[in-house]
Amino acid sequence: MKKIAILISGRGSNLEAIVSAKLACEIAVVVSNRPDALGLKFAEKQNIPTEVVDHKNFSSREAFDKALLETLKRYEPDLIVLAGFMRILTEKFISAYPSKVVNIHPSLLPAFTGLDTHQRAIDAGVRLHGCTVHFVTPELDHGPIIAQAAVPVIQGDSADSLAARVLEEEHHIYPMVVQWICNGECSINGSTVSLTGAAKDRGFSFYKC
Ligand code: GRF
Repeated sequence: MKKIAILISGRGSNLEAIVSAKLACEIAVVVSNRPDALGLKFAEKQNIPTEVVDHKNFSSREAFDKALLETLKRYEPDLIVLAGFMRILTEKFISAYPSKVVNIHPSLLPAFTGLDTHQRAIDAGVRLHGCTVHFVTPELDHGPIIAQAAVPVIQGDSADSLAARVLEEEHHIYPMVVQWICNGECSINGSTVSLTGAAKDRGFSFYKC
C-alpha cells in the first residue's frame, strides 16, 4: 500500500476529508509548520503520527525545508499531499520528491494564483470559480493540473460564502485524486497530466452534479 504524508498549517478540513474517505493508502504522517494547527488534534485522535516543524525556528526557507525533508524521510512517503500548507517550498524540496508533491488551490488555475482567491474572483466578476488539484513545481500554483471542480459565483456572494461552496468541492476532489495517484492513474506529460483507468475522463466536476 502506498504511503502518503499530509502537510498542513491550520484547520485541516481537507486532511479530514482525505482521512474520512478511507482510501486504499496509508497515511504515514501529518506534518504541520504550526504547532497550534487544528488539524494536528484531528490527526492525533485518529492515531495518525504527527510531527511539527515550526518554521519560526528556522532562519531561512532552505533550513526549514531541510528539516522538513529530514522529518519526512523517516516515514518514506510515496506521495506528499499539501492540504492548506501555507509555506512556499524550495526547488530543492520539490526535486527530492519528483512528481510526488500535490497541492489543492482554491481557484480554477491558471486564474487567481496566490492568496485571497475568492474575493479576487468576486471582484473580477467571474461567473465560475472553483478549485484545482495540481502537481507542485517550483513556480507557485503553476504545476500540471490533475483535476478541477467548478462552482457558480452567485449574486451577493461574500468571500466567505464563495469559499464555503468551493471547500465542499475541495473535499470531494482531493481524496479522489489522492486515490488515483496511489493507483498509478495520473501521469505527467510535460506540462499536462494524463488520466487513465478509473480516473479517465473524471478530471472535472461541477457543483452539486
Ligand atoms: C483550502 O481552501 C485550500 O484550498 C487552501 O487552503 C485551504 C485549507 O483549508 N490551499 P483546510 O486547512 O484544508 O481546511
